[in-house]
Amino acid sequence: MSKSQSLNAEIYQALHTGTFGDWQFYKSLVQKKLKLKKVKDKKAQDHATLNVLELGCGSGRILCELAELRIKLTGFELNDELLALCKANISQRFDKTATAEIDYILGDFSKLEACFDQQGHQQKKYFDLIILPYNGIYCLRNEEEQVQLIREAINLLAPQGELWFDGYALPDPSEYAYESADEYSPLTVIDLGASKKRPERVLGVEELDVFQIEQQRFTAHYRFVAPEEEIINEPLHGRIEQIEHRYLYPWQLPKLCQQAGAKIIKLMADFGGQDMTATTDLRTACEWGIDAEHWVIGITKA
Ligand SMILES: C[S@@+](CC[C@H](N)C(=O)[O-])C[C@H]1O[C@@H](n2cnc3c(N)ncnc32)[C@H](O)[C@@H]1O
Repeated sequence: MSKSQSLNAEIYQALHTGTFGDWQFYKSLVQKKLKLKKVKDKKAQDHATLNVLELGCGSGRILCELAELRIKLTGFELNDELLALCKANISQRFDKTATAEIDYILGDFSKLEACFDQQGHQQKKYFDLIILPYNGIYCLRNEEEQVQLIREAINLLAPQGELWFDGYALPDPSEYAYESADEYSPLTVIDLGASKKRPERVLGVEELDVFQIEQQRFTAHYRFVAPEEEIINEPLHGRIEQIEHRYLYPWQLPKLCQQAGAKIIKLMADFGGQDMTATTDLRTACEWGIDAEHWVIGITKA
């Protein structure tokens, strides 16, 4: 289970604001596929719809953007608090006007196949598009689990279906000196809005990052700090939470996908960035992590 589980859902939402251009990218993918499906399925013009799954939908940051499209949408999430917040965010934003037909699954994507084999989820199988945004793949503990997720996800794809996911790109450790921090430094200030007791709730967040290079493991520790006059009333003051990632270097992606039985449709440096699909030496072609801060990949069944 991911350590992200321990983070309070509201705080998780406040801290996880996405990668620049990500939801616009995923939304345009859905729109393009929907258009294509309508063209192909001329008879069913208005009825042609798309079956889309978001793995690790969190508080619904991206799901909310997709909910206004005429599609079938499934949000899959491990954390029940986040899934509840996701449903609440969608109802609040759309007030029953969401065009998509939305389903929610509380489940663990490290056992994706087993989860979909469960009674009740059988009919939901076979998606035109599966997305796993915002470093979701890094929530798994090791390469085996990551390969298994990709394999099981592509097995849920309809013919011509695609799986798209992204992650932050870290530079090559042989050329870049990674240093773990030994003390907390200020990261941001989050506003959790009003509570019953007081008009507003603002928390400072400090971060301490630890790298274990050999294991490709990154642990972010977050410490919450209330404003001085609020310290006594703030239960989160001084609390420390952590998020653990098994990150990937972009040049590991082709092998990972091949092991999972997938072929690459497109590999990009950043959302809307340089197309690296045909590049043979991903390690040196671009200084990933310096020039490009993220990778984005689209794959399908080989
Ligand atoms: C970085 S967040 C991305 C949230 C959302 N997709 C977004 O873009 O804002 C990763 C999400 O994956 C969920 N997650 C982590 N491990 C999971 C697992 N094994 N099964 C299902 N969801 C998981 C986390 O709880 C979290 O909501």
